[in-house]
Amino acid sequence: MISTHPRIVRYVANLEKLGIPETTTWLTELELSELSFWKDATRRRQWLAGRWVAKRLVTRSSQIDMLREVEILSRGEDGLGKSPTVSIRGDTSSYRLSISHNNRSILVGITSCHAAIGVDVASGVPETPSFRTRWFSQQETKWIESDIASRLPLAWALKESIFKAFGNGSKWDPRSIELVKVNQNRVQSRIRGIEVEPLSMWIRTTKGGVATAVWNDTAIQEVSLCS
Ligand SMILES: CC(C)(COP(=O)(O)OP(=O)(O)OC[C@H]1O[C@@H](n2cnc3c(N)ncnc32)[C@H](O)[C@@H]1OP(=O)(O)O)[C@@H](O)C(=O)NCCC(=O)NCCS
Repeated sequence: MISTHPRIVRYVANLEKLGIPETTTWLTELELSELSFWKDATRRRQWLAGRWVAKRLVTRSSQIDMLREVEILSRGEDGLGKSPTVSIRGDTSSYRLSISHNNRSILVGITSCHAAIGVDVASGVPETPSFRTRWFSQQETKWIESDIASRLPLAWALKESIFKAFGNGSKWDPRSIELVKVNQNRVQSRIRGIEVEPLSMWIRTTKGGVATAVWNDTAIQEVSLCS
């Protein structure tokens, strides 16, 4: 099958409007087991909304009828969060997926053919100088301080998006992701000092913050190799 949707980014401002069914028949046993990890009602709603949006994107782009045939798991055996994996009818798929939630908003990014993608919704990022000193390099701080209101949440969301796309199971450490240059649609970065190829970037201003997605363009170039 040749995918006609190499990359999709879907932002939902209010997850209550998604119309997620009360029943959980659209979830697999393993997904229900992951859901049971969360006790807080808000976090459970966010988890469900992320799955609902992501499963619908996958089923639509791969012509599958039932949401239950798509399985999305995001917890490792150690119980810690990990980059979500997507299986279809029990087989690991080539989809790469990233999910973020913030209050009532949900952001989901998906690519086919293993191309990396990471998304984040950031709001309420502390504007104190000590926060910037702790988590940003001098070069990043200089860039942020020329327009703190818009660049601080953007820098934070980009770091998290890049981590989600390329973290490869490492521990989240904002300083390990370094923003080198942010242009209109592209971000150059380093991870633990190693240069990452320039990434494409999607940005949307949200209430009190920003939503971002980054991906490598391999998705577009390799689309004809999907099978
Ligand atoms: C990635 C992380 C910083 C995001 O936290 P956040 O800003 O509070 O939450 P967001 O809503 O933006 O993102 C949460 C989503 O990120 C995804 N996620 C979690 N861990 C991830 C990771 N390591 N890489 C990529 N995506 C991850 C999950 O899909 C999760 O949503 P879900 O639980 O509903 O499936 C946090 O989940 C984290 O620290 N995870 C790593 C855990 C860890 O340290 N693992 C490695 C141990 S060595």
